[in-house]
Amino acid sequence: MPLRLLLSCCALLLCCALLTACPPVDGAGDALLGDGTQDVALELPCGDGLCAGPAESAATCPRDCPADCGDGLCTAGEFCAVCAADCDCDTLAATPPMGWNSWNRFGCDINEELIKQMADALVSEGFASAGYNYLNLDDCWQASRAEDGSILEDPTAFPSGMAALADYVHGKGLRFGLYTCAGTQTCQQRPGSFGFEEQDAASYAAWGVDYVKVDWCFTKGMDRQQRYAAMHEAIVKAGRPMILSICNWGIDQPWSWGPQYGQLWRTTIDIMDTWASMLYNFLGTEAHADAAGPGHWNDPDMLEVGNGGLDAAEARAHFSLWAMLAAPLIAGNDLRALDEETKAILLNQEVIAVDQDPLGVAAKRLSGEGVVGVWARPLAAQGARAVVLFNGSAQPQLLGFQLSDLGLQGEDAVLRDLWLHQDLPDQGPSFQRQVEPHSAVLLKVLGTD
Ligand code: GLA
Repeated sequence: MPLRLLLSCCALLLCCALLTACPPVDGAGDALLGDGTQDVALELPCGDGLCAGPAESAATCPRDCPADCGDGLCTAGEFCAVCAADCDCDTLAATPPMGWNSWNRFGCDINEELIKQMADALVSEGFASAGYNYLNLDDCWQASRAEDGSILEDPTAFPSGMAALADYVHGKGLRFGLYTCAGTQTCQQRPGSFGFEEQDAASYAAWGVDYVKVDWCFTKGMDRQQRYAAMHEAIVKAGRPMILSICNWGIDQPWSWGPQYGQLWRTTIDIMDTWASMLYNFLGTEAHADAAGPGHWNDPDMLEVGNGGLDAAEARAHFSLWAMLAAPLIAGNDLRALDEETKAILLNQEVIAVDQDPLGVAAKRLSGEGVVGVWARPLAAQGARAVVLFNGSAQPQLLGFQLSDLGLQGEDAVLRDLWLHQDLPDQGPSFQRQVEPHSAVLLKVLGTD
C-alpha cells in the first residue's frame, strides 16, 4: 500500500475511532485514493449536525490542514482530501458561528417567552435558512446555586427551565447557547462558574447546550489561561460538543492562546450601537487576521445592525467589515421588529458567503490608513477574492486597487458588487471608486491566480 494511502486511511480511521458518532463514510476510501484532482463530494454524517454537509471535494479543497483543529483530532493531512474529511468531521465552528444573542438589545430583560419568540423569528423571518442557527442567551438567565452547587435558572423568568427551552430551540432546528463567567460572578452579578466549571459544563451538557460564552468579570488575581483551560477541560469531560466563546475583551492577546481552549475569542471591549464603537472594534480586530482560521476565530463582538444607532449605509459597512474579518455573525437586535432594509442587510447571502467562505482566511489591508482603506481576503474558489473599499471618515474618498494587488494575473477579472448584486462592466486591471462617508463598497473579484 502506498505510504500516502496508508496515512490517509489511518487519519480517517482515527477520526472515526475518536468520534463514536462518526460512522464509516461510504466511498470515502475511493475519494482518498484520488490524486487530488477528482471532484468527489463526501457526505460525512457524523455527530449531531456538527458535520457541515458535503465535505469539500478533493479537487477544490483549498487549505492545508491546520496542525490542531479542536482537540487534536485533526492529524495534519498528507493531502487535501484527508484534511477535509478529518476537519469537517470534528471541527466545531469550521466557519464563523452565526446566530442571535440577547445582550445587545435586551440586556437583563430576558425571559423564556421572549427567547421562544426569537427562536420563532429566526426561522419565520428567514434567518435560520440564511445560516443564523445559534440562539444564545447572554447574562441574567441564572439566579442561584442549589445546595449541591448546581446552577439554577431564574425561576421567574425561566419557569420551565433551561432543558425545556433548549428542547424548544432544538425543535426549531436551531442550536442553543448559554452565557457564564470565568469569575466568581457574572458581569451582572449572577453566580459565576469559578470553581464550578465541571458541574456547570455537566449541567449545560445535560440540558443540550451547544455553545457557551465565558465572560471575564469578577476575576481579580485569576490567570486567564488557567480559567479558560478549566472550562475547556470541563466541556471535554462533559462529553457534548459545545463551542467555547472566550469573552475576555482582548486582554492578554487571546488570539495567541485562545485557539487551545475555544473556537472564538473577543478581540476588544464591548461594542456599542455607534459608528465610533464599530470602528474601534474593527481596527482592534483586523490587525490579528493571521489568528483566524477554520475552528478558531477573532470575535469583534456581536452585530449592532437593526438597533437604530447606525443608518443603512453604516449598517451595510458594519456587516461588510465583519464579513471581511471572518467574524462571527451574531445578531443582537429584536428579530420580531426589523424593517425590510435591515433584513436585506442581515440576509444578504452574497455577503454571508464571504464571511462563511470555507478557506477561512481573514482580510488584510492593501492600502490606506486608519479608518480609510482597502482590505482583501482570498476565497476558496480559484482566483476568487473579496475586497472592501471602506471609508470610515466624514469626507468622500477615492479608493481603489490593481488586480495584481490581489495576487491575480493578467488584465481581466469579473468584479461583482455584493450590495448591488450586479457584475460591474469591464474594469481592466485597476478599479477605482469614490466611496461616500461612513460607507463601504464590497466586491467579489474572480480572476486568474
Ligand atoms: C460583558 C460582555 C458582554 C455581555 C455582558 C453581560 O460586558 O463583554 O458581551 O456578555 O458582559 O453582562
